[in-house]
This record gives sequence, C-alpha cells and structure tokens, in this order.
Amino acid sequence: MLKDLVHRNRSYRRFYQDHKVSMETLTALVDLARHSASGANLQSLKYLLSCDAATNALIFKRLGWAAYLRDWPGPPEGERPAAYILVLGDTAIHDHFFCDHGIACQSMLLGAVEKGLGGCILASINRSGLRRDLAIEERFEILLVLALGKPREKVQIEDIEAGGDIRYWRDEQMVHHVPKRPLKEIILPMKGKTPPCL
Ligand SMILES: Cc1cc2nc3c(=O)[nH]c(=O)nc-3n(C[C@H](O)[C@H](O)[C@H](O)COP(=O)(O)O)c2cc1C
Repeated sequence: MLKDLVHRNRSYRRFYQDHKVSMETLTALVDLARHSASGANLQSLKYLLSCDAATNALIFKRLGWAAYLRDWPGPPEGERPAAYILVLGDTAIHDHFFCDHGIACQSMLLGAVEKGLGGCILASINRSGLRRDLAIEERFEILLVLALGKPREKVQIEDIEAGGDIRYWRDEQMVHHVPKRPLKEIILPMKGKTPPCL
C-alpha cells in the first residue's frame, strides 16, 4: 500500500480548480507533518494555509512552474491549485531547518494522495513578493510552497537507461512523463562487497 501511495504521489500541476479543499483537510495534512521527523526535534517549521480564491491568487502569481516545460507558463485559470500550504522556518527557534521541510512536504503529499487529492512542492518562489503580499514577518523564512488540489492530469513514470535524460516532458495528449533513474544507477557498489543483483 505504501508503494502504491508513493507511486501515485506525483507532482501534479493541473487541477480541478473548483474542487474545494477545506481548512480541515489542510489542518489534517499539517498534523501529518507535525508527526514527522525533525532534526534535533527542534520542530522549527510553521505553516500558513490558504483555500480562498483571493489569497490563492496572491500565492499563485509568486510561483514558478515546471521549468523544463519551456512553453508552458503554468496552469491556466480553471486548472490552478485549490489550496496551498506555505512551509516556513521559524528563525526564533533556529536558523537552520535541516531537511525538515522536505520530509514535512512528503508526509503532507502522501496524506493528500490518500484523500484523493494531489499536489506539487514548489521552491521556485518570488519570496520577497510573497512576503510582501501576505505580510509574512521577517522572522519566518519562506522555505517551500505546497500546491494542492484534485489532479486534472495524468502523470506517468518512466524508467530511463543509466545516464539518460531526466527532463520531464508532455505529449500531445498532455500526459506528463517523468523519467526516473534505474536502481542500478543509484545504488552504488560497496567497496569489497558483491553488488546487489538488479
Ligand atoms: C525540493 C523540490 C522543489 C521543487 N520545486 C518545484 C518548483 O518550483 N516548480 C515545479 O513546478 N516543480 C517543483 N518541484 C517538483 C519536481 O519538479 C518534481 O518532483 C520532479 O519533476 C519529479 O516528478 P515527481 O514528483 O512526479 O516524481 C520540486 C520538487 C522538490 C522535491
């Protein structure tokens, strides 16, 4: 089941925008993040939640989508995320956030997929603009944005040959293809040991 969840947990960038995601759902996702691992258990992450059209619009315009899809400026009106979770680092607790935000986002995305939703982690953020628009205090570092909604696109994983092109692409049917490096490329042989059979 976990394998199935992980496989279904793709980066989705096109959504049924009018499929609402409630504050309760967003809160439940943050609760999954809260129960996740944290470096030195500092738990320096804080969250801002958005599921209303006006705030969503402010967030959307500060995000960069799918850099490899050069001719695609991001989802058009009608296919935009219905909700966002902003992942912030509270510098009043610590100024280093380890990889807590990545782990938190993965927990929240898996929870979203389990609920029939999906999303995309975004690090391409106009941080100063977003800070200004949402009046986010300097104390909070903007780490990642999680875009969420009911996915409106098919995303297909493809195994590539070792050294193959890792750039994702879209076909004429708008199916999004994501190449993944094979196990034999990413598991390195331990010196003096027989490599695993892959
Ligand atoms: C830390 C991180 C930052 C990312 N930032 C962006 C981003 O700014 N914009 C975007 O469209 N996708 C972003 N992605 C999504 C990746 O492009 C995506 O994970 C990758 O293409 C593999 O697809 P998959 O998630 O379906 O396996 C990010 C993913 C991660 C983990």
